[in-house]
Amino acid sequence: MLDAGVVRFSVLRALVTALLLCGLSDTVTLELEPTRQESPLMKPKVMIAILARNAAHSLPYYLGCLERLDYPKDRIAIWSATDHNVDNTTAMLREWLKVAQTRYHYVEWRPMEEPRAYTDEWGPKHWPPSRFIRVLKLRQAALKAARQRWADYILFVDSDNLLTNPRVLELLMAENRTLVAPMLESQFLYSNFWCGITPQGYYKRTPDYQPIREWKRLGCFSVPMIHSTFLLDLRRSSTRELAFYPPHPDYSWAFDDIMVFAFSAHQAGVQMNVCNREHYGFLPAPLKAHQNVEDEVESFTHTITEALINHRIEPSELVFIPTKPQDTMGFDEIFLINLKRRVDRRRRMLNSLAALGLEATLINAVDGKALNSSQLRTLGIDMMPDYRDPYSGRVLTRGEIGCFLSHHATWTQMVERDLQRVLVLEDDVRFEPLFKKRVQLIMEDVDKIQLDWDLIYVGRKRMQAAQAEMWVEGMDNLVEAGYSYWTLGYALTLRGARKLLSAQAFSRMLPVDEFLPIMFNKHPNTAYMSHFDPRDLRAFSVEPLLLYPTHYTGEPGYFSDTETSTIWDDEHITTDWNQTHTQKMSPQESIRPIGQTSATGDTAPSAASRDEL
Ligand SMILES: *[C@@H]1O[C@H](CO)[C@@H](O)[C@H](O)[C@H]1NC(C)=O
Ligand SMILES: *[C@@H]1O[C@H](CO)[C@@H](O)[C@H](O)[C@H]1NC(C)=O
Ligand SMILES: *[C@@H]1O[C@H](CO)[C@@H](O)[C@H](O)[C@H]1NC(C)=O
Ligand SMILES: *[C@@H]1O[C@H](CO)[C@@H](O)[C@H](O)[C@H]1NC(C)=O
Repeated sequence: MLDAGVVRFSVLRALVTALLLCGLSDTVTLELEPTRQESPLMKPKVMIAILARNAAHSLPYYLGCLERLDYPKDRIAIWSATDHNVDNTTAMLREWLKVAQTRYHYVEWRPMEEPRAYTDEWGPKHWPPSRFIRVLKLRQAALKAARQRWADYILFVDSDNLLTNPRVLELLMAENRTLVAPMLESQFLYSNFWCGITPQGYYKRTPDYQPIREWKRLGCFSVPMIHSTFLLDLRRSSTRELAFYPPHPDYSWAFDDIMVFAFSAHQAGVQMNVCNREHYGFLPAPLKAHQNVEDEVESFTHTITEALINHRIEPSELVFIPTKPQDTMGFDEIFLINLKRRVDRRRRMLNSLAALGLEATLINAVDGKALNSSQLRTLGIDMMPDYRDPYSGRVLTRGEIGCFLSHHATWTQMVERDLQRVLVLEDDVRFEPLFKKRVQLIMEDVDKIQLDWDLIYVGRKRMQAAQAEMWVEGMDNLVEAGYSYWTLGYALTLRGARKLLSAQAFSRMLPVDEFLPIMFNKHPNTAYMSHFDPRDLRAFSVEPLLLYPTHYTGEPGYFSDTETSTIWDDEHITTDWNQTHTQKMSPQESIRPIGQTSATGDTAPSAASRDEL
């Protein structure tokens, strides 16, 4: 009873005090602080782990991508290690980190100058156990550093992966998953994730892979393997169990760095995810075991040319880039036909050619749009009277005339300057892997067998079955050209240029890619052919082709970040575009071979270069 009374009393007293206080505040004016807006939260803290080895070829581009990440640098720490280099990787990284130190929150640097190679490895793609262990230990050290520094996230990015999407960090964080990879692009449908895994931990092909890889299904997907580039959310308690090294005690799969980590994630109950909602970046296709450093460099070069198609990638300005020697592959000139106002394409092509080590001479294309009737009259240009576009039935367009005149200008220049052989390129081409090497080899073989040739297509659209074309004897990558469209790229001899010029086509003009097959007597329309004589151009084509158009439709998101999303946008007569180009595709030709394994079905080119100029 007494206790209850005491309690009751103290409650009463508290009440009275409260009432008194309230009364006071009614009478005394308190000077309250004006309410200020709360400041925004700072971004999560990220550590980026850079493990580079023999990466001198890729580092400038790789670091350039990191620099352009749209994320506050003072919220990023860099952890970087390098070892066993035969190239200039150590010096380049050191130079970059010196500046990075002043920009990023924190920089850690673990260089190892010697030895320069593992004693038991025989190539860049050979991974002896010593190398796996070293890489796993380094990754573990990076992870440990991130934990010690209380980083919220750690991002692993292999030193030849190109994160072209500056928003990648924020996009991945927004997915709110513990372990997530941005799907990266590469040739042969290769990417940095698997959809299936065998009980032994190896890659398993599954029907899910391709639709994801080709952006036919969009989202974030639970997968058994991600590698090369991934983000780990260290705030998640489950990540405490994750480790690269030592491998999990139950680990029994083959010793491989990505498999060891996938196993660890599995054991820790951490789900791996891959996201493809956006395009995030690129990685080179893996090499085969027998390939060497040169192949690795070439493979990366191809990755750059692919990335350049829709992205502006520039090397970091903070590292020294040895200029790649440029040549013309034995041609007197490489002519690049480009409309002056298509600055984007010119820049892309010049960057790509520089990456490939090719030196090109610009030919200012004739702007069909700017041509007026009186100019056409002055030039003596008249359409071939019976010419009609085969599908839409339309007549010749100004764009096609401009394109013809542009090619004509290169032929004229050849004759005026007495150039024996040139390579003519249009500015909307994409290069196949090992472009330079393969062109060089073909031209060497052409000379070796003393082929009598005028023109060799390097990129075109074959208009009939492949079987209809004869292989050139003594060569396994050259055919006699049949009816073809497009003039993406071709080699031409002086004699060939003379033949094309002496045809005097201005007075019966048709698109240049219809004109060429007439000149080698393979046009199916005999009425067209009857306008020209002789038709003795000696024309061939490389096989497989080494150039394709840059833009294909049917690839989701493909145009999202380009300036050139519609081909006819501002400079062409648009009326018959749709019809013309969907139907002009012969089915087997409309598919760009992505690789031996691929069949991308419905990717029809939306750009036919002859119409572009
Ligand atoms: C190696 O890289 C450093 C730093 O970028 C540069 O100063 C040096 O000239 C490079 N050396 C070679 C041989 O490329
Ligand atoms: C992220 O996930 C955690 C738990 O997994 C959840 O509590 C949180 O609300 C999520 N955040 C967002 C923004 O969805
Ligand atoms: C045609 O174009 C030329 C060159 O731009 C110009 O000088 C001329 O006046 C134009 N003629 C007509 C009829 O528009
Ligand atoms: C071409 O396609 C666009 C969009 O798909 C459409 O708006 C336009 O009407 C089409 N033009 C013709 C001539 O079919």
